[in-house]
Amino acid sequence: MDGNGRWAQRRGLPRTEGHTAGEENLAAIVRASVARGVDYLTVFGFSTENWVRPRREVRHILGLHRKLFGRVSELNDLNVRVQWIGRPFDDPAARTPTYVQRAIQKAISDTAQNTGMTLTVAFDYGSRTEIAHAARRVVGQHKTPNVAVMSRAMYIPDMPHVDVLVRTSGETRISNFLLWQAAGSPSYFTNNPWPEFSEDDLDAAIALAHKFRSR
Ligand code: IPE
Ligand code: MG
Repeated sequence: MDGNGRWAQRRGLPRTEGHTAGEENLAAIVRASVARGVDYLTVFGFSTENWVRPRREVRHILGLHRKLFGRVSELNDLNVRVQWIGRPFDDPAARTPTYVQRAIQKAISDTAQNTGMTLTVAFDYGSRTEIAHAARRVVGQHKTPNVAVMSRAMYIPDMPHVDVLVRTSGETRISNFLLWQAAGSPSYFTNNPWPEFSEDDLDAAIALAHKFRSR
């Protein structure tokens, strides 16, 4: 969900306002995705690399994740099941504070019975860290790594392959996001920063997924 800071700066607002607008747009895009019958929506909320940002900004983003994971009644109304992907909380390098861990765990358990879309939020997530973690797991199980064995060792083993990767705010580079799960997937690039990611963007991304799926 890139471009929150630039969206705010363009309006002469502090970057934190951009993150707030981004969280609100996520709520709108979740609704729009449900309306379109999307089964899985996975969003990059905060990366393993984002901790070096100014403390004030990090604290603001953490608070927004508590808010996001706290939208349980809205998610239940939409029949959305919440998942989280990231460094396990007991990993010595994990940085997620306890109050965010609690919000994550509560959202997961309070929406576990829902059967509609699965919304997975990546928080304290990095794809290379995930792949290295999977490799250590496989080694620990004394197994020989191959694609199937590695896939089962990822943070969420039953996450389906990515149909379409989306990158916002005019960046045309792939980030450290679901590299294993998105190998070969088409990418949808939009100049809109995340707070302005629109239903038209969503439709275009879905169309791209269908185009490559039918091949
Ligand atoms: C995305 O917006 C939010 C996070 C990475 C947490 P940015 O903060 O990356 O916004 P830009 O890239 O500076 O515009
Ligand atoms: Mg950015």
